[in-house]
Amino acid sequence: MGTRLLQYRFGGYSSCVELGSEALLERFRGERAVVVWDENTSSLLEPLHELPSVILPPGERTKSLDTVTQLLERFLEEGLERDATVIAVGGGVVCDAAALAASLYMRGVRLVLIPTTLLAMVDAALGGKTGVNFSAYKNLVGTFYPAEQIIVVPETLETLPQREYLSGLAEVIKSAMLGDPELFRILTKKVDEVLAREREVVEDLILRSVAVKGHIVEQDFTERGGREWLNLGHTFAHALESVTGFEGWTHGEAVAWGIVQALRCGEAAGITDPDYAATASELFRQYGFRCEIDTIAVDALIDAMQRDKKNRGGRVRYVLQRRPGETELRELSSELVRGVLSRNLS
Ligand code: GLY
Repeated sequence: MGTRLLQYRFGGYSSCVELGSEALLERFRGERAVVVWDENTSSLLEPLHELPSVILPPGERTKSLDTVTQLLERFLEEGLERDATVIAVGGGVVCDAAALAASLYMRGVRLVLIPTTLLAMVDAALGGKTGVNFSAYKNLVGTFYPAEQIIVVPETLETLPQREYLSGLAEVIKSAMLGDPELFRILTKKVDEVLAREREVVEDLILRSVAVKGHIVEQDFTERGGREWLNLGHTFAHALESVTGFEGWTHGEAVAWGIVQALRCGEAAGITDPDYAATASELFRQYGFRCEIDTIAVDALIDAMQRDKKNRGGRVRYVLQRRPGETELRELSSELVRGVLSRNLS
């Protein structure tokens, strides 16, 4: 199968997503570039091996200003000038930190992202949000700086652990709910093929999810109205991640749980169509996602949601859906949310 291309305008930037084989990377041989990898990705993608590189430790702790400083020092050491390229190969951590460094170095050098996890292919690499964690907050420090090219090489998924693959799949289901009924149908009908990572099906999931996000970000690059929809389920998910100390749940598992809670709260508030809430929750169950939790103190979750950095004026706004493709931001009382969470402990 040949290369497939999707092109976007995000604010003043053009950003192109290419999906194809490793051969796409031959174009970088001999280029003035630094490749940023992590220890899990540095043996992949042979055409990039002769370029100068930085290999970061994998994991969330790498998403720090210290990493950005380390990258800037390396760019300087390599004598990168304004026409140079930063190429990041990895999941969300590597892509977000390298993209932030690329946006800062000489006020911005060319950025190419090569996401190697499903999560990064369908979410983190697209749309220009760069960032690192700061103090107790995830992604508190960052810029809007879209990659000029995002190159998706599906072979890189072959070594991805199934749990990580599923983590990305939660965001794929989210994309289907936000804007692609046909993707929702494929996910419902082809559970075995999706779980077995059948190549054609996986490529379809990636391109369709990218198209949903690309369309939303084109309408609202800097998140002033509309882009927040991409955070469906994330207020709940971030609270769960923070209360559990980021242990025991992958990001996608937390998002799947969070979307189910958003559907339940929307239903309790008379917003979400109950049949839709049931169908969408069932889809998450079909992929083995946990929709209930047992040991978490509900009050701690409510507190964490009230501390979410996306709140405005101390009020928690939730992304809710009426039905597929109809998404809105709403404030909900903490009594309503507490009631829903308390009823749904296993
Ligand atoms: N990951 C959410 C966004 O890019 O806005």
